[in-house]
Amino acid sequence: MVMATTGRRQAAGQKAFTTACRDCSRLADFLAGVRVEQPDYFARPVPSFGDPEPRLLIVGLAPGMHGANRTGRPFTGDYAGILLYQTLHKFGYATRPVSVSADDGLELRGARITNAVRCVPPENKPTGDEVRSCNGYLAAELRDLAPGTAVLALGGIAHKAVLAACGERASAFKFAHAAHYPLSGGLRLFDSYHCSRYNTNTGRLTEAMFEQVFELVGRYDRSRS
Ligand code: URA
Repeated sequence: MVMATTGRRQAAGQKAFTTACRDCSRLADFLAGVRVEQPDYFARPVPSFGDPEPRLLIVGLAPGMHGANRTGRPFTGDYAGILLYQTLHKFGYATRPVSVSADDGLELRGARITNAVRCVPPENKPTGDEVRSCNGYLAAELRDLAPGTAVLALGGIAHKAVLAACGERASAFKFAHAAHYPLSGGLRLFDSYHCSRYNTNTGRLTEAMFEQVFELVGRYDRSRS
């Protein structure tokens, strides 16, 4: 369901999330095929996970085929989730350092994780139209955040998706690792290179660099309490 576009701070049309979404026919058809080939996979649009009233919202790209798409929880079972959950635990947001499955008992406290695109895309590459179509879910998620909440975009696509969902001009907010910007409505956007296997294996993103961003977020969070 597409809701009114007049809510506070969002320009993108907001949509109420449903795992029955079929708005992108390419992704819906792809998921239908995955359900046939992998009947034990979640293989639906993956819901956000974590604290319903977070101080930090993390925005990834899209579920990985054999990770979030299998388990039904963002970054769970994905290589990219290893560093993410380890860091969330180190900074006090996760009750465990390793995220195994949707029913492993791990809880996020003060943090929530979502994705710019909720369905696993073929070859891990969503199209621009798919990112735009899914943006209504992100817009609804952002609308519900308390002013002052930190929003951490993992990678350039998530960064642009957050800006679009907030109705901000992308040209005014350049993506850069550890950059941060105030957003309309009192949110604050933080950027990090995505914690993907490629980025961590090539050294584009090190553990120290990732923790640097969480330190920035923590400093910001403490400064407003
Ligand atoms: N798994 C997710 O849920 N999101 C990503 O961006 C990568 C892996």
